[in-house]
Amino acid sequence: MDLDAFAWLLTDDGQRLLARTTEMTMSEESGKGSALAVQTALRKDEAAERVAAAMTQVDLRRKAAAKFGDLAPRMYFTPDGLEQATRLAVAHHRAARLRAFEAGSVIDLGCGIGGDLIASSRAGLTAAGVDRDPERVAVAQANLDALGLPGAVTVADATGVDHSPFDVAYADPARRGARGRVFSAEGWSPPWSWVETLFARDACVKVAPGIPHDLVPDKVEAEWVSDRGEVKEAALWSGSLASTHRRATVIGERGLATLTSEDDPGAEVGAVAEFLYEPDGAVIRAGLVTAVAAGVQGHLIDEHIAYVASSASFETPFARGYQVLEELPYRDKQLKAALRERGIGKLTIKKRGVQVVPEQLRKRLALSGSEEATIVLTRVAGEGTCLLVRPF
Ligand SMILES: C[S@@+](CC[C@H](N)C(=O)[O-])C[C@H]1O[C@@H](n2cnc3c(N)ncnc32)[C@H](O)[C@@H]1O
Repeated sequence: MDLDAFAWLLTDDGQRLLARTTEMTMSEESGKGSALAVQTALRKDEAAERVAAAMTQVDLRRKAAAKFGDLAPRMYFTPDGLEQATRLAVAHHRAARLRAFEAGSVIDLGCGIGGDLIASSRAGLTAAGVDRDPERVAVAQANLDALGLPGAVTVADATGVDHSPFDVAYADPARRGARGRVFSAEGWSPPWSWVETLFARDACVKVAPGIPHDLVPDKVEAEWVSDRGEVKEAALWSGSLASTHRRATVIGERGLATLTSEDDPGAEVGAVAEFLYEPDGAVIRAGLVTAVAAGVQGHLIDEHIAYVASSASFETPFARGYQVLEELPYRDKQLKAALRERGIGKLTIKKRGVQVVPEQLRKRLALSGSEEATIVLTRVAGEGTCLLVRPF
């Protein structure tokens, strides 16, 4: 990113170019998506690097709508900064938790373009951010300003910052290096050994959802968060912010629901029943499938498989529910015949705990017919099992 061109973009002239670029990109006349036509037209009046800066922002704002919704058209991004930013729904939940613990101030140690910082500031916390990358600092500050939010951002190495004046230290270490995703926590930036030092105080650290449970220190709460069915992250809460051992938080159309290890009495293993529940990914990652089983008066169908069976039908935010219509043959040939018999031409294949590639199976089944159906392929008492189900 050209920092001078970005700084210019924030001036009145820059804002006029940005507005014009947005308008032209969206207008029918220029032919939607005809970036070259827009660029050529704009370059008649403005320097190439300024036009490039404006076009980049217009493109990134469009891409950012999925994460930042209505705020995206007013915000600024870098491509990597957008990719690494926390989506607003998840960042808002975190900020709301901080408020609930009566935190008044937070320092974001590696704030990127400000995804979490913005949410903290919107929640009314005094929010300060540091990042070692001057481009991201410029963008994060521009975002606070553009949204009319208080907060300050500076260029600094987070590992040398005195965070003690703040109620909470927050970090979201970069898990991508120059060569792609970094899997070892010590390879994160800042690394795990530094993250651990934060756990001596009230802190929150965003980590990969795949974090091994045994890496989470005692007395630190691990919270897995999903947004509209997709697991987005885990957050580790320490000091007075930790309120349980493991938690699954599910953000959905109807709001937010949370389940903790205290809600988990464990569950038995038993037979398939009239209803089947497929727990949300955050619940599975948090190891709370048995808590869902308890919540729907059910049991597991296999000790190691994340399906719950119950004879009761429940609406729960923690799982998708299905009515089991019948058991079908598991073997390809007999299954193909059974589906033909029922006129099933469109099939959703769900599977857990069995070696099946749904796309390959679908080809082998050579479906034909006008009916739609869902099957679940799994293991029950060690045996491959196929269930014809109907989503609630
Ligand atoms: C995953 S991103 C943070 C994204 C941010 N939470 C958001 O929602 O936009 C991690 C950030 O940490 C910064 N970073 C990595 N190591 C750092 C260090 N030692 N000091 C300061 N910043 C650092 C990177 O430049 C990057 O912007």
